[in-house]
Amino acid sequence: MKAAIMMENNADLVIRDDVTLGEVGPKDVRVKIGSSGVCHSDLSAVNGTIPMPPPSVLGHEGAGVIEEVGEGVTSLAVGDHVILSFVPACSHCNPCLRQQAYLCKEAGPQAMAQNFRLDGSPIGGMTGLGTFSEELIIGEAACVKIDADVPLDIAALIGCGVTTGVGASINTAQITPGSSVVVFGCGGVGISAIQGARIAGAAEILAVDTLEGKLEQAKHFGATSVTTPDGFDEAKAKLTGGDGFDYALECIGNPATIRATYDAARNGGTAVIVGVGRMEQMVQFSAFELFYANKTLKGSMYGSANVRTFMPELLSLWKTGKLDLESMISRRIKLEEVNDAFRAMEAGEVIRSVIDF
Ligand code: APR
Ligand code: ZN
Repeated sequence: MKAAIMMENNADLVIRDDVTLGEVGPKDVRVKIGSSGVCHSDLSAVNGTIPMPPPSVLGHEGAGVIEEVGEGVTSLAVGDHVILSFVPACSHCNPCLRQQAYLCKEAGPQAMAQNFRLDGSPIGGMTGLGTFSEELIIGEAACVKIDADVPLDIAALIGCGVTTGVGASINTAQITPGSSVVVFGCGGVGISAIQGARIAGAAEILAVDTLEGKLEQAKHFGATSVTTPDGFDEAKAKLTGGDGFDYALECIGNPATIRATYDAARNGGTAVIVGVGRMEQMVQFSAFELFYANKTLKGSMYGSANVRTFMPELLSLWKTGKLDLESMISRRIKLEEVNDAFRAMEAGEVIRSVIDF
């Protein structure tokens, strides 16, 4: 079968048509991928921001149909449609028992699994998935069953970006009605955070991006004001009387914008870090300000979502017209065009490219 493989860092993915799969384990399923989104984190794996040893099949935002189930699988059957969760929800580890499935301890073992075969050798997939492939093997715990009438491209988006962004606004920040929000970065994740803020009932939603084109799109998804970074101070003064925003969300993943996000929150407000920076990058805070400003600084892993309940809720919001997922798909591509999709993402030309298999 076909798959897009990172053979080395900082190079184009290699499309191979002779990749095979290992055996389906007792608690595993084999999934035929319907669609996969191309997320910035895939690019971050290529450029080394997210540590991941090559060779590896990329892709972690996907949905598909169950083709085979292991003998110990109890919750899924052949033919079921599923969203693939890049963090599993095993339901028995301590984080899962605390209702923090986004921190599930099975995430590490899942990411280490090597279920693909390339030239006879086992290789892994990103986060244990590897949705840039026609089929993959994954644990039952990473599958969220959905109705068969949900289009798989829509379902795929929920696999990472939408859950991450909407979840950051609703679950992590816990945005309240009437509040003021600023979102830094208007890619797939930031646009989802904007939609989450709108759904949560925020009054002011300021979108910040370096690209005017992204800002135009942000308005469609619920931003009530937009600005490039150089106009931010003026916008903050106008919208909050200079106090800062009740909630500030960083959806880029760099130290300067993480710091700017903390600064954008008002004293007593909440700053949420959604973007993924490099392991060795540092962000500075003064020992005094952390106390004095009384801000809440939160990381947001996978939208702080319990995927088994949150993903179906997102689908309900989509079905009832409150969450616009169709407009997030900027380009539909074939697997062979995935390197072009990376370049389009770097150029800021897309919210999401979606690979249809
Ligand atoms: N200031 C404002 N906007 C910026 C800046 C900046 N300094 N740098 C980049 N941006 C904008 C880009 O123009 C783009 O619109 O941030 C957006 C990032 O969007 P994508 O590249 O599409 O990334 P996305 O998939 O949304 O992921 C964002 O979340 O999950 C993490 O790893 C992911 O760190 C990444 C982040
Ligand atoms: Zn992602």
